[in-house]
Amino acid sequence: MAVRPVLKMGHPVLRQVAAPVTDFGPALSELLLDMEETMREQRGAGIAAPQIGVSLRVVMFEMKENPRYPDIAPIPFTVLVNPVLTPIGVEQDSGWEGCLSVPGMRGLVPRYRQLHYSGFDRDGRPFEYAVSGFHARVVQHEVDHLDGILYPQRIRDLAHFGFEDALAGQMTPMPD
Ligand code: NI
Repeated sequence: MAVRPVLKMGHPVLRQVAAPVTDFGPALSELLLDMEETMREQRGAGIAAPQIGVSLRVVMFEMKENPRYPDIAPIPFTVLVNPVLTPIGVEQDSGWEGCLSVPGMRGLVPRYRQLHYSGFDRDGRPFEYAVSGFHARVVQHEVDHLDGILYPQRIRDLAHFGFEDALAGQMTPMPD
C-alpha cells in the first residue's frame, strides 16, 4: 500500500479510454489500496485509476462531513468498478469543480442533476444507486476520467476557469 504520484493534465494516460476490469483478484485489491491512500493523502473527494497511471475502469469517492463545504451531504466511501451511468432526466446544474490532476485550479462545469449508476464492488458483486446533487457530480467527474476526459473539457465558458486563490470569494468551493 503506497501513496502514488498523481498524473497531471497533459499526461497521455489521462487522455486514454481505460479498459474494463476482468480480474477481481489481488492486483485489483492492491490498486484499490493505493488509490485509497493517495486520495486520502491528497484530500480528494474522489480518484480514478488512470490518475495514478493505471488505465482501468476503477473509481472511488468519499465525502466526509466537512465544515468547509457545509452544503454538501456526506458520501459513503464507495468503490465503483466498470461503471455505467444513466442520467435521470435532462436537468443539469453548474458547479465549481477541481481535480487532483489539475492542481490549484477550479472551473464551472455543468453536470446532470440526477443519475442512476451501476457497476461492481471490489469483490465483483454488482450494485446500483440513484444519486443527485454533489454525489451525482462526483460520479460524473470520476467516470469521465475513464473516458479520457478532464473537467476543463466540460467547461462551457472559459471565463469561469481559474486559479483557486484568485477565484476565492467568487465561487462556492467544492472539494477536488
Ligand atoms: Ni479529477
